[in-house]
Amino acid sequence: MSVTWALPFEKKINPKSNKLVSINTYKEIHSQSVKEYKQFWASVASELEWFKPWEKIIDDSNPPFYKWFVGGELNASYLTVDRHAKSWRKNKVAIIWEGEPVDQNGNPTEVKKLTYYDLFREVNRTAYLLREKYGLRKGDAVTIYLPMIPELPIFMLALARIGVVFSVVFSGFSADALATRIDDAQAKMLITADGGWRRGKVVPLKDIADKALEKVSTIKDVIVVRRVGNKVNMIEGRDKYYDEVMKDVPIDVYVEPERMKSEDPLYILYTSGTTGKPKGIVHDTGGYMTLLHATMRWVFDVRDDDIYWCTADIGWVTGHSYIVFGPLQEGVTEIMYEGALDWPQPDRWVSIIERYGITILYTSPTAIRSFMKYGDEWIKKHKVNTVRIMHSVGEPINPEAFEWFFKLVGREEIPFGSTWWMTETGGIMISHLPGLYLIPLKPGTNAMPILGVEADVVDENGNPTKPEERGYLVIKNPWPGMPLTIHRDPERYIKVYWSKFPGMFYAGDYAVRDSDGYFWILGRADEVIKVAGHRLGTYELESAIIEHPAVAESAVVGIPDPVKGEVPVAFIILKQGYTPSKELMDDILKTVRDKVGPIATLGGVYFVSKLPKTRSGKIMRRVVRAVITNQPVGDVTTLEDEASVDEVRKAYEEFK
Ligand code: PRX
Repeated sequence: MSVTWALPFEKKINPKSNKLVSINTYKEIHSQSVKEYKQFWASVASELEWFKPWEKIIDDSNPPFYKWFVGGELNASYLTVDRHAKSWRKNKVAIIWEGEPVDQNGNPTEVKKLTYYDLFREVNRTAYLLREKYGLRKGDAVTIYLPMIPELPIFMLALARIGVVFSVVFSGFSADALATRIDDAQAKMLITADGGWRRGKVVPLKDIADKALEKVSTIKDVIVVRRVGNKVNMIEGRDKYYDEVMKDVPIDVYVEPERMKSEDPLYILYTSGTTGKPKGIVHDTGGYMTLLHATMRWVFDVRDDDIYWCTADIGWVTGHSYIVFGPLQEGVTEIMYEGALDWPQPDRWVSIIERYGITILYTSPTAIRSFMKYGDEWIKKHKVNTVRIMHSVGEPINPEAFEWFFKLVGREEIPFGSTWWMTETGGIMISHLPGLYLIPLKPGTNAMPILGVEADVVDENGNPTKPEERGYLVIKNPWPGMPLTIHRDPERYIKVYWSKFPGMFYAGDYAVRDSDGYFWILGRADEVIKVAGHRLGTYELESAIIEHPAVAESAVVGIPDPVKGEVPVAFIILKQGYTPSKELMDDILKTVRDKVGPIATLGGVYFVSKLPKTRSGKIMRRVVRAVITNQPVGDVTTLEDEASVDEVRKAYEEFK
C-alpha cells in the first residue's frame, strides 16, 4: 500500500546549525554505531559514574530478557543529585516549580526554586524517613499518586536511593485504576496528597485514594502531602501527613545510596495494551540511565546555561524520563509546572516561556493544536525568542500544526523534531539529534533512529518494506533502556513484543520510510487509542462501560479529533428492558469517567442492536472504525452478520 498521502511536503527546512549533515553522512555514522552497538553503548555508559564497573556489556543468553552492563553497580539518585551537590552545581537551581494558582493579574502566586543541594538534602531526608521510620528496603514496592508538585520527584529519587521500586500512577486516574495498579505492584505504601489543583479546582486525591484502598490489601502505610489544605479523612495508624513525620528527621541526614546492580529494577510504570489489564513495564537502572544520558545530550543538546521545560506530567513516561531522571542527571535547570497549560488564559504556557526564558521546549502535538485553535495573538503577546530547540512527543504531529508552531515559536530557524518512543523503550528511539548531527528537517517527520538503535519498517512477514510503503515499526537490536519484563507476567512480555516478528521488538505502530530514508510513524496498528497523547486501551474503557447496569455489550474505537488526535467513542448494546435515552448516555459517560478517570471522556455513545463480530464472537473494532471514518471496511468474510455494519453506520450518522 502506498502512503504518499502522508508526505505532502516537499519543503526541507535547514536550521542554522553547525551540526548539519546530509542524511547520507548520518546513515554512514549510524550504520557504524549499529554494527558495533554493544561497544557503542558501552562507550556512552562509561560517561556515567559507576560504583563498580560492569564485567559484561550485555547478557543476551536468554532473549528477550536482556541484561545491560552486567556486574556494574550504580544508583539513579546518586547520579541525579549527589554528583551535582558535590560539584560546582551545588547552588545551581535544579527545579523551578510554578504552581497553578494565579493572582488577579494572572501572575503565579507560588514559585519555588530548588537548588541541587536542596534536592540532595530533601531526597536524603525523605530516604531516611522511608528507610528508618517505615522500614522500607530493597525489594519492596511503593505506589505514588501525587500531582505535579516538587514532592513527586523527591519521593521518586528517595525511593531510588534506597532501592525501593516505585510505581507512579497519573493523578488523573480514578480509584479503580489506582487500585488495579497498587494490587499488581503489591505495593506496601501509598504516597499521595490531600488534593491537587486543576483548572482552579481541587482534585480530591486523598478521597479517591481512600476508595482505592478499600479494594486492596497490601498497603500498610499512607503518607499524605499537604498541597491544597482541604479536609481529608486520616485513618489512625495508617495515614500520616508528610510534614508531620518529617519534623523529627534531622536536616543533615545522609543516606548511603544503595549499590544497585545495573539490571536491578528502578520503577514499574503501567501502560495500556490491546487486551487485558494494564501492563506493568519494568525498567532497569544502568541501561535506562545510559539511554537518558545519551538522548538528553543528542536530542536536547542540554548545556549548563539552558532553561529546559518538558510540559508533560510526571505520571506518564515522558515525565519520568524527561522531567525527573534525564534532565537532573545532566545537571540542568528545569521548569516544573503544576497545572493546565491554558489556565486561566490560553497564554499561560507562553508566559512561562517568557518568565523563565525557556531555551529548550519539549511538548505534545495536542498542546500545539489547542494553542493553534486559540490563535496567534496569544503567542505574539510574549517573547519566545529564547527558545533554541523544540521537540514534540506522544503522537504524530500533523504538518499544519508543525508549520504553525515552527513559525510562531521556532521563528522558522530552530531545530524542531518529533521524537518517537514509548513507555516500553524508556527513552527516545527515533529523532533528530540537534546536539550531535542534525539532518535537514521535514515538517512532522520522526527523522532517523538515534545512534546505536536499529529500527526498521517491515511487512507482515518481517521483511523490510519498500520506500513509501506502510509497514510495522520494529527495533532489531537490544538497546539500553529496554524493559526488563512485564511485572509478574514475563510470558506476556514475550507474547506482546517479541512474537509477531521473532527476534525483533514489535512496537505496535504503523510507519513508513520515505524515499530519503526518513521515518514517519503513522499511528497505532492495534486497538490502543491515543487521546491527547495519553495511551488508553479499548479493553479498559469497555470494562468500565460494561459495569453500567444497562449495558450488555460494547465496542470502543478511536476516531480522529482535530485537537486531541483521537477520541474514544462507544457503540453499545443495551440489556433487555432498557431503551436509549439522553440520560442513559450521560450516565454511561459518567461511569467511564468514574471508573477510569477524567482522561477517559468518551467523544460519543451510540446505541445499536448488533455489533460486527467474527463467527467466533470477537468484536471487529477494525470494521467499526472503518465504517465511521468512511474508510473501506476491507475483508469481512469472517463477519457473522453483515447487517451489523449498516447498523453501526446508521447509529453514527443519526447521532453525529
Ligand atoms: O503510537 C506511538 C505514539 O505513542 C505511543 C507510545 O505511547 P506511550 O507509551 O504513552 O508513550 C508516549 C510518550 C513517549 C507510540 O506507540 N507516539 C509517541 N511519540 C510519537 C508517537 N507517534 C508519532 N510520533 C511521535 N513522535
